[in-house]
Amino acid sequence: MSGDGLKGLILSGGRGTRLRPLTYTSAKQLVPVANKPVLFYGIESMAAAGITEIGIIIAPETGEEIRAAAGDGSRFGVSITYVVQDAPLGLAHAVLTAEEFLGDSPFVVYLGDNLLRDGINALVEAFRRERPDALILLTPVSDPENYGVAELDGDSVSRLVEKPEEPSTDLALVGVYMFTSSIFDAARAIEPSARGELEITDAIQHLVDHRLRVDPHIVQGWWKDTGRVDDILEANRLILDDLRERVEGELVESRVDGRVVIEPGVRLERALVRGPAIIGAGSTITDAYVGPYTAIGENVVVARAELEHSILLAGSSVRDLQGRMEASLVGKDVAIARSPAMPRAYRFVVGDNADITIL
Ligand code: DAU
Repeated sequence: MSGDGLKGLILSGGRGTRLRPLTYTSAKQLVPVANKPVLFYGIESMAAAGITEIGIIIAPETGEEIRAAAGDGSRFGVSITYVVQDAPLGLAHAVLTAEEFLGDSPFVVYLGDNLLRDGINALVEAFRRERPDALILLTPVSDPENYGVAELDGDSVSRLVEKPEEPSTDLALVGVYMFTSSIFDAARAIEPSARGELEITDAIQHLVDHRLRVDPHIVQGWWKDTGRVDDILEANRLILDDLRERVEGELVESRVDGRVVIEPGVRLERALVRGPAIIGAGSTITDAYVGPYTAIGENVVVARAELEHSILLAGSSVRDLQGRMEASLVGKDVAIARSPAMPRAYRFVVGDNADITIL
């Protein structure tokens, strides 16, 4: 299936400013959704489409962490080459940075913070069958001003605009594209946008302007760009909705209802876990309620607390809450607890850009 030399390029550079404070210490593409880094869904969907040679664009600041997480790709059945982009100068700039790796092969570009329920098989098949110069993926959205927006003329793409103030259609560009090497000259020909980036949207418009064939493909199944906290919680909900039940670990006077994954080494004591939910290895849940759409990472402690529709990263703890915690995203090794003695005061040691809501 990969005999046509199709390569993959995942863009995992950038700054992740909309996900601070998590992205002060971690790459946004490694934020877990249903306990798996967003980036891994992209790698897996490429592998499923028969693409085994994958380049990953990394930033100097977060690149090492991404390398450590994804490794040489062997555990996904692919081979990964890392390409450092010195500064986040735009998606078209990122593609140009990988020109040597891509050579003259056709390739898929996958934005490392995007999630597609049905993967990219249908898109790759359409590209292999039709052989256009480029193929873009589109889906109708309610807030097109936040995305690249496409206008169609029958079956072909007539105009693309990056985050227009007044969108002319509701068709957003999904962060997966298929290109031939014609995109390199287009990326070299365009100027930086108002936000100072070489936009892939403008490079594709350049192909259209020069009468190259750009085919649209409408996405089936859901799509999520996980660039903001609410999007991550929503992606977590969507992925957990497809969860298959698996209960390992130890249950003491506890109950699990519905589609729940309890990893090995978990201890539930007088706890109720109502799925869909996942609890990572080594966590302990004591005198607590974990409700639907919650993903708890490894070695987390939840005691005398109720939570739902939330993501807790590895090593964090939540103790003695008086109200239910919901729609929350808690970073690594964060401790949330009630003050044990007088004076009973609020006490916060919180990093920049944190967002705290209290009862
Ligand atoms: O998610 C779809 C949208 O993605 C499209 O509708 C837009 O047309 C497209 O421009 C893009 O918009 P965003 O503003 O959401 O892109 P973002 O800056 O979040 O970058 C997307 C991914 O690419 C992210 O994983 C970081 C990585 N990246 C970004 C830049 C700017 C790089 O690797 N290098 C870069 O220079």
